[in-house]
Amino acid sequence: MTASRIDGKAAGVAVRERVAKGVRAFEQRAGRPPGLATVLVGEDPASAVYVRSKNRATAEAGMASFAHNLPDTTSESELLQLVADLNADKRVDGILVQLPLPSHIDEKKVIATIEPSKDVDGFHAMNAGRLATGLDALVPCTPLGCLYLLKAELGDLSGLDAVVIGRSNIVGKPMAQLLLGENATVTIAHSRTRNLEEVVSRADIVVAAVGRPEMVRGHWIKPGATVIDVGINRLPTDDGKGRLVGDVAFDEAVEFARAITPVPGGVGPMTIAMLMRNTLVAAHRRAG
Ligand code: GUN
Repeated sequence: MTASRIDGKAAGVAVRERVAKGVRAFEQRAGRPPGLATVLVGEDPASAVYVRSKNRATAEAGMASFAHNLPDTTSESELLQLVADLNADKRVDGILVQLPLPSHIDEKKVIATIEPSKDVDGFHAMNAGRLATGLDALVPCTPLGCLYLLKAELGDLSGLDAVVIGRSNIVGKPMAQLLLGENATVTIAHSRTRNLEEVVSRADIVVAAVGRPEMVRGHWIKPGATVIDVGINRLPTDDGKGRLVGDVAFDEAVEFARAITPVPGGVGPMTIAMLMRNTLVAAHRRAG
């Protein structure tokens, strides 16, 4: 069997076009566009690239973009004050503070300060708790994008065996909650899991989010399973440019899976598309 490649780029474009239509309708009704504020602290090059693409996508969707780029000497109290100002700003529907933050700033404190109705990352405990208890929540963008791709590929997920590898608050835990919400039978595996190969080999759905290049080998995959690879790892190459690979050994896994996301071009574009969606959803909920 050779797996089909799940085209996250095309799916992301489709979601963003739908959001752009929704943005025009919102603006007609509310007399202002939805607004997203991004906050970047420091000079981490990868974070700077991500935040720039988020700001560009916001403008392309017709939303107001408020970019705050702060030096890495910014104090925790200065950052908390900025978040408080954004909480109070009526033009701002979504607040995204790019992680990781410099080590002198307590990420937990910053996340807890974001007004939950503007928490388009879905990282605030209020949103995590609402997701876990089945209430309307703002849901983290990456797992939301993974679920979108899974449902587009498989339709009903009810009763399917799903393994989520990774237990982060950003991906693993919310991914497991979303799959449970779709009535899948969910296992969360992580760095201490014994015999990961055996756990993976039982799964109809594998979501890999561990950040270890090509850790999941192709022969672990049950024939016909669907594989979502959240990993983005840069391997060194002779020309110094590096090569992006996922957490799954793609060339091996295509021989076993029914469908698989490539890296790049799989989950990545969906994360930004879902951020746009979350900002529109937040704007609607806040406007009432
Ligand atoms: N850093 C890596 N992924 C993310 C994300 O989805 N949101 C934020 N705010 N920071 C991140």
